[in-house]
Order: sequence, then C-alpha cells, then structure tokens
Amino acid sequence: MSPIAVLCSMSHEMRCIEAQLVDPIETTVRGQRFVSGMLGEALVTTAISGYGKVAAAATTATVIERFDPTRVIFGGVAGGIDPTVRIGDIVVADRLVQHDYDASPLFDRYVIPSLGVAEVPADQHLVECLGRAAVRWVETRARTEIPQPPDDLFNVADVAVHQGLIASGDRFIDDDAETRTLAGDLPGLLAIEMEGAAVAQVCTERGIPFAVFRSISDHADNHADVNFMAFVATVAAPITAGIVEELVSELD
Ligand code: ADE
Repeated sequence: MSPIAVLCSMSHEMRCIEAQLVDPIETTVRGQRFVSGMLGEALVTTAISGYGKVAAAATTATVIERFDPTRVIFGGVAGGIDPTVRIGDIVVADRLVQHDYDASPLFDRYVIPSLGVAEVPADQHLVECLGRAAVRWVETRARTEIPQPPDDLFNVADVAVHQGLIASGDRFIDDDAETRTLAGDLPGLLAIEMEGAAVAQVCTERGIPFAVFRSISDHADNHADVNFMAFVATVAAPITAGIVEELVSELD
C-alpha cells in the first residue's frame, strides 16, 4: 500500500501529526528519519525536512524514491504578505514560485527551465480537498483544539482560509521594505515561506500530485521573528495536525 507523504520543515510543526500515527514504524534513510503509520484510514509517511529549498527538495526526492507515495503534502507556517491575510489564517497554495530564482537573461525571471513556468500549479483536486479540510477544521475544531495564543497574536474564533500564490526562498524575511518589494514583484502573492516551491518543482518533475498549506505565523515585517517564535511554540503543531487529519479523511 502506497502512503500519503506528509512533510514539514520543523518538528514544531510535525509533532502532533506524529503523535497521532497508529502503529508507527521508523525508517532511517541515510541519516534521515521517516515515520510511517495509520492516520484514520490512511497510511501516512512523515518526515521533517529542515529549513529551506535544498532540504525540502532532498527530503521530497527521498520520500518519493523510498516510499512511492501517491501524493505529497507539505504543511507548516508562513509569513503573510497580502493585507487580507492575518496571523492565524490558513493559506492553501494553488501555485508556487521560487522568489529568489533568477536565471535571466537565459530565461525570464523566476522561470524554472525544466518546467518552463515560473508559477508551478499544485494538484487541483488536492487543493480543493485541502481547502475543504481547512474550512471544516476552522468551523468544527479550531476553537476547542487551539489554545488562545499569547499576547493576542490572533483570535482563534476568527480564522480565515485563503487560496492563491505562495512564494518560497532561502531567506527568513523580517523587513517591511523587502516584503513590499516582493508584493510588487509577484502580483497576487499571499504568503512566503522557505520550502513549498522546491517541493512543487520536485513533485512536478516526477509526476507526483502535491499540495502545500500554511498557517500564518507573522507578517514578514520587523516583528516577524518574535511572532514566528511565539506561534511555532504554541499553535503551529496542532493546527497542522488538525488540517492533515481532515484532509486524509476525504482522500481515498
Ligand atoms: N516562514 C514563516 N514566516 C516566514 C518569514 N517571515 N519568512 C520566510 N519564511 C517564513
């Protein structure tokens, strides 16, 4: 039976998912730990990639080669860019771009030569399932399962789900000017993180359906590091686990 691969960059995002796995089996592949087990009716294989595009690409390639997953899901936190996206909201990527990829003048800025596009689309069916899963989680579970975060970081009773463009790059962004530049360069950009578009490239090159979702931990501004730390320490793991549980319950 082929699993659904569920990847995160940090243990702070993964810990509640792993704790839910029934009959977990650990496998170490050249020093990297993978855990396979049942999540409801679904066989799931999890791995923590580490930060950044190289780590995410390497983990994605390994999980595909060794576990032959039917789909790859990457979850975790991101910095919100669009003003409608608030801390605590959920963003499901319908497409992803590497904001620091630039092979111009050989190719247009952001274009991945092997794919011929800048914005790599996620699997449409998975995007729809993730969107429904996130809304269901918000409506039925968020208020009871998520501790109210410290310092009014966000209101657990008021979480929105968005769908759109996520950008990834090998930089933690905590600068208003850089955030404004990214928003200007990439129209429609909802959020930024450091891994999703690398997963998108590897999965698309190998023909594996994938999707990426993120909860918003900060606004990529001058307070980003403080908000990020508070968010990942308190709510990132239960949010990520709740949405993955809702997602796998509707995949066959
Ligand atoms: N992930 C969460 N917040 C982020 C930020 N501000 N920059 C890059 N990746 C992030």
